[in-house]
Amino acid sequence: MSTPAAPPRPRALLLESIHDDAAFTLREAGFDVERVAGALDENDLVAALDGVAVLGLRSNTMMTARAVQAAGSLVAAGAFCIGTNQIDLAACSAAGVAVFNAPFSNTRSVVELALSEIIALTRRLTDKNAAMHTGVWDKSAAGSHEVRGRRLGIVGYGNIGSQLSVLAEALGMSVLFYDSADKLALGNARRCGTLEELLAEADVVSLHVDGREGNNDLFGAEQFARMRAGSIFLNLSRGFVVDHSALRSHVLSVHLAGAAVDVFPVVPRTKGEPFVSELRGLPNVILTPHVGGSTEEAQQDIGAFVAGKLRDYAHAGTSSLSVNLPTVSLPATPGTQRLLLLHRNTPGVLASVNGLLAEHGINVEAQVLGTRGPLGYVVTDVAEADDVVPALRAMPETVRLRVLR
Ligand SMILES: NC(=O)c1ccc[n+]([C@@H]2O[C@H](COP(=O)([O-])OP(=O)(O)OC[C@H]3O[C@@H](n4cnc5c(N)ncnc54)[C@H](O)[C@@H]3O)[C@@H](O)[C@H]2O)c1
Repeated sequence: MSTPAAPPRPRALLLESIHDDAAFTLREAGFDVERVAGALDENDLVAALDGVAVLGLRSNTMMTARAVQAAGSLVAAGAFCIGTNQIDLAACSAAGVAVFNAPFSNTRSVVELALSEIIALTRRLTDKNAAMHTGVWDKSAAGSHEVRGRRLGIVGYGNIGSQLSVLAEALGMSVLFYDSADKLALGNARRCGTLEELLAEADVVSLHVDGREGNNDLFGAEQFARMRAGSIFLNLSRGFVVDHSALRSHVLSVHLAGAAVDVFPVVPRTKGEPFVSELRGLPNVILTPHVGGSTEEAQQDIGAFVAGKLRDYAHAGTSSLSVNLPTVSLPATPGTQRLLLLHRNTPGVLASVNGLLAEHGINVEAQVLGTRGPLGYVVTDVAEADDVVPALRAMPETVRLRVLR
């Protein structure tokens, strides 16, 4: 007698040279993984998504509404980066496709770059290095300082700002911070009630705010003027937050002793295109091409983190840290089947679901509901789901129903 064929393995498609650890995690989880080195344009993406359950992409593949709508078997998409602007999130929500990203994986890399720049600028290493390369031996200590005992003012005390706070204190700096939201001060850090208070006290000001619209030109001539004479300025957050011509004037007037900038309002769109900025050529100014989060360690962490999210959503329906779905996580109930229902967020859906289960004589072993904007998500463990599936699928509020056996 022949043994029945094993069910086909679900397919995962990973684009844009995503780290090997992602493919490893998904293969371990039972996926057939196909990898593509580059990005795909819309037509190629539509063709490639046929039969794919899980997609991984980075920032160069545009996941348009057309691509989402054409991808009938797609359950989840992972942005193996921080931003998700390349993904049409509304289309994904409407189709019941979960989207994940890696919001924390490169925070340590940004913090280490900021710390290295604080030390380099405070010691004027940029000037010493430039002079040595032109044959000038300048052994003077003038203008070079230790960071120990200096005051670091962190603007934006989120994932990055708060981690910078801890490591800067370990170096002997005293930390002040200003955040528009209520944030717990870590270690001996001191919260400032206003940005002005921070600017008046800090020897180093480092921006780590998020990209909300209101932060456009947050930092301009007025804020630079309020900084202490001889202080240092860093921006590794977003380019549009800082007025670069005001920064240039305050470096040239030596009101600021130095600056480090990793993010710019306008950047070259292609490799070869020159980098244009009024900050080029300034003394004791470190310019880096948005590499704050770009380390091999961060890429590896992103690979494992996002692949883990895709696996947990595909296999258990766990949507923690999804960009677009309600957050739901339910521990497995042994010996049950799991119903994963994404539905329009209107009153009474949970009652309808449980009414249908009761009508079919199905007992609920465990259940959890979450809602977010237009979507609701209810996960239910039952002993045997098959009888009720057509009725749940036919509910007018149903966006997508999956059954895990
Ligand atoms: N340079 C890089 O390569 C790189 C890498 C990762 C992240 N980033 C950027 O770094 C920034 C911080 O990232 P994160 O993960 O810490 O973000 P986060 O969302 O965890 O923290 C941002 C913090 O800024 C605060 N904030 C926002 N606007 C403010 C304002 N006007 N005044 C005071 N506080 C304000 C928020 O309340 C929040 O606590 C983001 O803009 C992110 O895009 C850059």
